[in-house]
Amino acid sequence: MMKTIIKATGRYLPDRVVTNEDLTHWMDTSDEWIRQRTGIEERRWIPEEGGMGASDMGLNASKVALERAGWTPEDIDLIIFATLSPDLFFPGSGCLLQHKLGLKSTPALDIRQQCTGFLYGIEIADAYIRSGLAKRVLLVGAEVHSTGLDISNEGRDVAVIFGDGAGAVCLEAMETDEPVGVLASSLHAQGQYAEALMVELPASRLNPRIDVEGIEAGRHYPKMDGSRIFKLAVKRLPEITITALKKAGLSVDDIDLIIPHQANLRINQFYQKALDLPDEKMFNNIQRYGNTTAGTIPICLDEVLEQGILKKNATVVFSGLGAGVTWGAVIYRFPS
Ligand code: ACO
Repeated sequence: MMKTIIKATGRYLPDRVVTNEDLTHWMDTSDEWIRQRTGIEERRWIPEEGGMGASDMGLNASKVALERAGWTPEDIDLIIFATLSPDLFFPGSGCLLQHKLGLKSTPALDIRQQCTGFLYGIEIADAYIRSGLAKRVLLVGAEVHSTGLDISNEGRDVAVIFGDGAGAVCLEAMETDEPVGVLASSLHAQGQYAEALMVELPASRLNPRIDVEGIEAGRHYPKMDGSRIFKLAVKRLPEITITALKKAGLSVDDIDLIIPHQANLRINQFYQKALDLPDEKMFNNIQRYGNTTAGTIPICLDEVLEQGILKKNATVVFSGLGAGVTWGAVIYRFPS
């Protein structure tokens, strides 16, 4: 049977470190509030002068992943680019990345799944690979949040949680009857909660779509009903993990490591407690990077692989919930 295997990963975080203390210069907040409510200590932002889009960060992460995989860009059959902060309104950042990789006609697909971009991306890649449509897929999750945040008191609930960053994963077909690779996935969306976390402008439903009054009122900044998203996350993340494990014929005891989306350390602590897992089975790095949305899971995965903390044949869970709302989990087992 054809299976989807993670061949290599890469990450890119901009050099500019923005600490909680730095944020106190722009808004009424404190290191103590941010750490207690979110676990975040610092995040990375692109240079103040700008000039770096999601595709640029995706390119840097992809170069590392491609080199580790031993692939040239020409080996890629499909690029999947997950971002909520594309370089342009259109075309998608996947096309921009394709060009920056020096490719002429490789297909490139953008997905707009916010915090679950990596999860949707891996399921799409797996479907392409298992159906024989592709053998090698480059999956990228990249976000530039910093240029779109309201760093005044008005936007402080959102501004303190987001960071910039990118992760890239090379996914490859492997012919094997062993239970390895992507074992199962379970994805969901519930548009009923779209307005619980959204950026409203520019909007095609408005004419003109860039409405000056709306911008003056700050409707181009992200707005979040944080407590609603929090409550949904702590309920659905354990549920979806059990569902996906069952689909794979596994149980919580089979988990070696959960690599969850990094939205809030407290969410992941509740999630860990609900599944009764020890600390070493839940990976977090939100302390250093904040929420890089589509970037969180591939960035975590890259750090996990670099640290060599997984044993052979380890079973990992990728999971998350975010804007849409969308949520999901993917069960993956490393080949020996
Ligand atoms: N610094 C200091 N005080 C603040 C800040 C800040 N940065 N932000 C808000 N406050 C204040 C509020 O004004 C409020 O004050 P009040 O009690 O006087 O009205 C108080 O702190 C409590 O505010 P809450 O919003 O109730 O704080 P909460 O404990 O819910 O924490 C947070 C807010 C951290 C945003 C939390 O709700 C959260 O993490 N939610 C989930 C986020 C998430 O998972 N998002 C999805 C992923 S992102 C994506 O999909 C793109």
